[in-house]
Amino acid sequence: MTTLPRRYHITTFGCQMNKADSERMAGVLENMGFEWSEDPNQANVILYNTCTIRDNAEHKVYSYLGRQAKRKHEQPGLTLIVAGCVAQQEGEALLRRVPELDLVMGPQHANRLEDLLQSVFAGNQVVATEAVHIMEDITKPRRDSQVSAWVNIIYGCNERCTYCVVPNVRGVEQSRTPEAIREEIEELGQQGYKEVTLLGQNIDAYGRDLPGVTPEGRYLNTLTDLLYFVHDVPGIERIRFATSHPRYFTERLIRACAELPKVCEHFHIPFQSGDNQLLKDMARGYTQEKYRRIIETIRRYMPDASISADAIVGFPGETEAQFENTLKLVEDIGFDLLNTAAYSPRPGTPAALWENQVSETVKSDRLQRLNHLVGIKAAERSQRYLGRIEEILVEDQNAKDPHQVMGRTGGNRLTFFNGDIDQLKGKLVKVKITEVRPFSLTGEAV
Ligand code: SAH
Ligand code: SF4
Ligand code: F3S
Repeated sequence: MTTLPRRYHITTFGCQMNKADSERMAGVLENMGFEWSEDPNQANVILYNTCTIRDNAEHKVYSYLGRQAKRKHEQPGLTLIVAGCVAQQEGEALLRRVPELDLVMGPQHANRLEDLLQSVFAGNQVVATEAVHIMEDITKPRRDSQVSAWVNIIYGCNERCTYCVVPNVRGVEQSRTPEAIREEIEELGQQGYKEVTLLGQNIDAYGRDLPGVTPEGRYLNTLTDLLYFVHDVPGIERIRFATSHPRYFTERLIRACAELPKVCEHFHIPFQSGDNQLLKDMARGYTQEKYRRIIETIRRYMPDASISADAIVGFPGETEAQFENTLKLVEDIGFDLLNTAAYSPRPGTPAALWENQVSETVKSDRLQRLNHLVGIKAAERSQRYLGRIEEILVEDQNAKDPHQVMGRTGGNRLTFFNGDIDQLKGKLVKVKITEVRPFSLTGEAV
């Protein structure tokens, strides 16, 4: 038998949570002596970290998987893993669909990858999808960026939005302790990271499942308390967090963001629909008026704050007039960025069973109209940067122009300027903005 070099490949689909999980699983694999392979065809362990938020996200996985399953017939030593949300949703059924799979593992099992793989190497086909208490990770993640890092603070989601699979696949809320989070951020600071993004599906739920008071008598069981607790970590210059839920978003949090200089003036607060009846049907727990009040309050404290969000068109029962309420909200608020999607019925969610589904033609027409407006509003929002001096945290080379580097403003606008990445990576640079586009800027270092 020939011994192949131990190489692994991971392809990641879906949200920031999945990206963070992939980085942790890559860390586990490297700790086991595997080396990264950009090309899946050169790897003997292939892991797909999957997303099932919409139908098309799930389909992509199956086409990738089909190719590798074929390869396995020629190379039986290949180990095929499906992790993440499709794995959780499908479980055993995935093995029946793709018998070549060695391991099917839900998102809660990411930190257990080594144990699961040992069982696979011992000759088992393994399915790990039972609900577990997520362990604190002892292996170091292999992070994609050397400048900006994801830090999970809460896993899972206890909401029951009627369109959404996330609670089914990510399980109930589990907050990490403030101490564990601070420790991770301190280490990142020591390693030279400049920015952290605190992650949770519903980040405002942080701490609901923790005891309110620590043994020393400190009260720190909300996101706001956590920001105060971690904001002074040496080396870290910028702190971001996502995703916010309008139902739980507080003025106290807004005040903290205004007060703490390292916390970026950027808020990602999905509203999903601008229509109150639809918001009710979605079980979102707020009205469009409340959403508007939140944005007004943010802008009262931080007039220049960037606001981004997610919205869904074509939710069951959505009439033309209700859709126009979404357009109206987008028109009035003027988002810096809006992620839009046509409603996709998901297995195991209530709205998928309703009879008042909207036709695909109407959905795609509305999506187009919404996206058109989003582009116009984003272009308007970009105008305010023209001629200004912005502080850019340099992340990388501009993939399209090696003479340029790319980074972000505090408000998260992608910005390009001439410079040498070897000198500038991880630096905060003052840049005068000379050119604006809807979703990005160009400037000159000053
Ligand atoms: N936790 C976040 C979002 C998680 S999913 C929140 O509460 O807002 C990311 C986005 O995908 C959602 O904001 C929503 O806009 C979109 N989405 C979720 N389920 C969807 C579905 N069934 N069809 C279309 N879009 C969906
Ligand atoms: Fe899904 Fe709603 Fe939870 Fe967001 S808050 S993850 S949309 S159930
Ligand atoms: Fe997708 Fe799972 Fe994230 S379904 S959006 S990868 S939580």
